[in-house]
Amino acid sequence: MSYDIEKRDLMAIDDFQEDLPEIINWAINLKNDEDFSDSFKPLEGMTIGSIYEKPSTRTRVSFEVGVNKLGGQPLTLLANDIQLGKSESVSDTAAVLSRYLDGITYRCFKHSDAQLLASSATIPVINALSDMHHPCQAAADLMVITENKKDLNGHISWVGDGNNVLHDLLLAGVSLGHDVKYATPEGMEPNREVIGRAEKIAKQTGAEITATNDPVEAVSDAGVIYTDIFVSMGEEHIKDKFAAFDGFQVNEELVSNAKDNYLFMHCLPAHRGEEVTDAVIDSKNSIVFDQAENRMWAQMSLLTYMCNPIAWEAYRDLY
Ligand code: CP
Ligand code: NVA
Repeated sequence: MSYDIEKRDLMAIDDFQEDLPEIINWAINLKNDEDFSDSFKPLEGMTIGSIYEKPSTRTRVSFEVGVNKLGGQPLTLLANDIQLGKSESVSDTAAVLSRYLDGITYRCFKHSDAQLLASSATIPVINALSDMHHPCQAAADLMVITENKKDLNGHISWVGDGNNVLHDLLLAGVSLGHDVKYATPEGMEPNREVIGRAEKIAKQTGAEITATNDPVEAVSDAGVIYTDIFVSMGEEHIKDKFAAFDGFQVNEELVSNAKDNYLFMHCLPAHRGEEVTDAVIDSKNSIVFDQAENRMWAQMSLLTYMCNPIAWEAYRDLY
């Protein structure tokens, strides 16, 4: 398809800062209005390719099913089976795939590879997780938070690594006006440049960002407690990283500091017994499987916004 407007790439969730509330509302409407979403086919005739350099359950299945629901054809390309990274460069791969496909999702090790693929492709590119950002996760997470907003009477807290998931949660959270308090071990703080971007957004929306090394401080009176695995994919070689998280487990004692009706969130997969106990992840406060479901609805909204801006414009006033 050809674009009259500049093609839209999603590398980090603040790329769509201005339209994020609408993207999330659209996702909620798609989820709730079954009659409409069953007949809404903005990707008819389109093929969306998904490249995976790392394993995935949620991202892969939610993109494949979501593209199908929107009338498109998903094509999964596992890194071991294609030339990328072996005998072909990222930029040549991008140029070739742009001749066949209508959009690409890319899960990669190096964020700079996602940026290179996007700048070399003539079709929209979605970062489906890099070492720096996980924007699709943040879109789904803010969708769940928006759905539960009536019960959210405290800030969003994070306990764990200063990683890709925190980066986009922070950017998306403050974009929607939520205060965010994060606790990371010393030396595991989020990327400074990303914090700078989040602070700039927070200034516009009036949200507050607090950094600490103390998990109790972060979760005290929180409306949301979010954690993730301590050692991300591709970091397994970092010696002793796991040991730095002593005291960072989200367990019943830690969550007793939050609001009674706090929401427990985790992007999954969870390492039960490490960053979170069964008692917390299986509690009534846990919404981790809603997050997983919303990956699909949020990505369907993003795919429409990015791959068929004409349909997006035509339907945006529907709700
Ligand atoms: N949360 C998430 O991205 O899960 P997968 O690694 O299974 O895709
Ligand atoms: N921080 C984790 C998220 C997995 C969905 C990782 O990058 O491995």
